[in-house]
Amino acid sequence: MQPMKVFVAGGTGAIGAYTVPALIAAGHTVTALTRSPQKSAVVRAQGAQPAEISLFDRAQLRDAFRGHDAVVNLASALPSAEKFMFTSAWRECQRIRTEGSASVVDAALDAGVPRLLQESVVMICRDNGAEWVDENSPVDHFPVAVGNHVAEANARRFGREHAAGVVLRFGIFYGPGAAHSEQIMRMARHHIGFRAGRPGAYVSSIHLADAAAAVVAALDCPTGTYHIVDDEPVTRRDDARAMADAVGVRGWITGPGRAASLLGDRTTSMTRSLRVRNERFRGATGWAPRYPDVREGYSQMAEALRSQAPSSTSS
Ligand SMILES: NC(=O)c1ccc[n+]([C@@H]2O[C@H](COP(=O)([O-])OP(=O)(O)OC[C@H]3O[C@@H](n4cnc5c(N)ncnc54)[C@H](OP(=O)(O)O)[C@@H]3O)[C@@H](O)[C@H]2O)c1
Repeated sequence: MQPMKVFVAGGTGAIGAYTVPALIAAGHTVTALTRSPQKSAVVRAQGAQPAEISLFDRAQLRDAFRGHDAVVNLASALPSAEKFMFTSAWRECQRIRTEGSASVVDAALDAGVPRLLQESVVMICRDNGAEWVDENSPVDHFPVAVGNHVAEANARRFGREHAAGVVLRFGIFYGPGAAHSEQIMRMARHHIGFRAGRPGAYVSSIHLADAAAAVVAALDCPTGTYHIVDDEPVTRRDDARAMADAVGVRGWITGPGRAASLLGDRTTSMTRSLRVRNERFRGATGWAPRYPDVREGYSQMAEALRSQAPSSTSS
């Protein structure tokens, strides 16, 4: 792949913190949208150029996008685990995914950028029990998914009007830096397993390092929608077991279990059974996950967090 000039929105978040260095390591020149001088300093330290502008200001975006070969939109404001159930907590995230994705696409069109990548989630696919889910499987339109559908439609609009519009539907993020997965790992150390929904329901995940590698690989792939998940989705029972094994404990309690399904639409992205394939993206780009399943990925994560933890012994 030729070195490209890439603009990243959301480059200062969890996936962004892996993506910006991965793009630079692959030889690309990166500009990242920032919202504070502190984040600009972080971006500069990674070797990228910060652009302190608003995601909602189309003119500012257009000027910043000029001369770039690709725009990558990873911006979001997913509510914390404690607030996930409250519709009001989703307001900012919905605005970023609806108004924000529209202004990014309009500005990229105005600036003549030839390629746009938009993040989305596999959790908008319909529950398919133990059957596989691919990019042709039906999607659902539950309230918290509105933003994802609008963002995907904007990326498709870009693809129709311009050169390449790529939607990357990620599985559940985990790894050092993915706050909710770190929280679940901390619970596991206290013998509490997280299992939302039926024990036999499938969950499709992706380590942040593999998600970032997929963004780099997508700079070269044809217009379309792609599922970015690991090779082997596991049941929720096995997912909780893999987490407990990674931290070297036995799970005593698991929750919230089937009770999470009682909240219906508000938790459906966590409880539905999604056994998602990644073949389309692997075939289009040659990308393959470094962590083929959560058993390997959670072990790496536990190891990395252990080495980050302050030492309990004083010298
Ligand atoms: N968590 C999962 O399991 C999962 C799975 C698949 C996909 N995803 C999605 O992937 C995306 C990235 O996730 P993440 O974990 O990296 O999120 P994150 O850590 O919360 O990062 C969000 C990014 O968006 C930026 N942002 C927030 N509000 C903004 C605004 N008003 N204007 C401009 N930028 C704004 C943040 O900037 P600041 O640094 O300035 O706050 C940050 O760079 C999210 O959309 C998430 O839903 C998540």
